[in-house]
Amino acid sequence: MKAMLSTAVGGPETLQLTELPDPVPGKGELLLRVHAAGVNFPDTLMIRDLYQMKPPRPFAPGGEIAGEVLAVGEGVSGYAPGDRVLALTGHGGFATHLTIKAGTAVKIPDAMPYEDAACFVFTYGTSHHALKDRAALQPGETLLILGAAGGVGAAAIELGKAAGARVIAAVSSQEKADFCRQIGADETLVYPRELDRDAQKALSAEIKKLAGGDGVDVVYDAVGGAYAEPALRAMAWKGRYLVVGFPAGIPSIPLNLTLLKGCQILGVFWGASVFREPQGHAANMADLFRLYGEGRIKPRISARFPLEQAAEALEMMQDRKVLGKVVITMG
Ligand SMILES: NC(=O)c1ccc[n+]([C@@H]2O[C@H](COP(=O)([O-])OP(=O)(O)OC[C@H]3O[C@@H](n4cnc5c(N)ncnc54)[C@H](OP(=O)(O)O)[C@@H]3O)[C@@H](O)[C@H]2O)c1
Repeated sequence: MKAMLSTAVGGPETLQLTELPDPVPGKGELLLRVHAAGVNFPDTLMIRDLYQMKPPRPFAPGGEIAGEVLAVGEGVSGYAPGDRVLALTGHGGFATHLTIKAGTAVKIPDAMPYEDAACFVFTYGTSHHALKDRAALQPGETLLILGAAGGVGAAAIELGKAAGARVIAAVSSQEKADFCRQIGADETLVYPRELDRDAQKALSAEIKKLAGGDGVDVVYDAVGGAYAEPALRAMAWKGRYLVVGFPAGIPSIPLNLTLLKGCQILGVFWGASVFREPQGHAANMADLFRLYGEGRIKPRISARFPLEQAAEALEMMQDRKVLGKVVITMG
């Protein structure tokens, strides 16, 4: 088998394509031939030891994969060679073969391509949990998404529309704004790649103008940094602010704003919710497969890279260039 291994702390340039012996499934495990691995922002952090999960080296990044069962370990029932599955792996996905705990595999519909399956659970799972379980987004409400053209952001656009919300997509370029409009955003705004105090004020004013009325009911913040406060300042009475991610840095927020708006700031930790609330996760997955089957959500894959070029995929993500999803294909 081949794997793209992180052998030293650092950026994508530190990854090394390595030949390894084929793994053998242990008790309770499945051996998979990986067909596709979705690329997610945490992959860029994990290789730098900046993520909460720090696997021992050498390890392959890649937290989400889809593939075919090659062999079944002792004590596993319900799976057979040839089954098509997706799985959240944490890491290890940038590889041609992988063993996983059988309980983490989810069989995928025949009509779902491996590439879609590898770009499905992480982004849609996060955004569905955020909008439904945390914000209780209602039809007719206004939803602002920061970083709307990225993985979780684009998923939030589709899910926000499916929930009947009016979606404002906020992004850093006109190309990204056009992409968001294409996938369903009602309104778009382009913010600068760096924000000073004046630009923060201008951003808040623009959000309020687009939202109309009292402001935005729900903010989905996948960006953080200097973008957070202007979005909070543009919120409506009793709004809900979803803390999803911090690619632009961890913001500090003046708490008096929550008092003035009567609003809530809600943490979103989807990975923990999957373990803490397995029944809720199962129900959410059923919702997502139904929406996919109905054609109402579909991973927007804008770039594909072979395993040998996995570093380029991670560079694209850290350079803020991704539209929707990037996928590694194993050929
Ligand atoms: N809370 C949870 O449970 C959960 C689950 C999954 C992911 N996340 C987090 O959500 C965030 C987004 O993940 P993703 O996989 O959707 O990533 P992504 O596709 O790279 O999207 C992130 C977006 O952040 C914006 N951004 C702002 N500053 C950036 C910077 N310095 N570098 C890179 N991007 C920057 C970019 O949009 P613009 O250029 O338009 O600003 C980019 O599209 C990450 O922080 C991730 O860890 C959280």
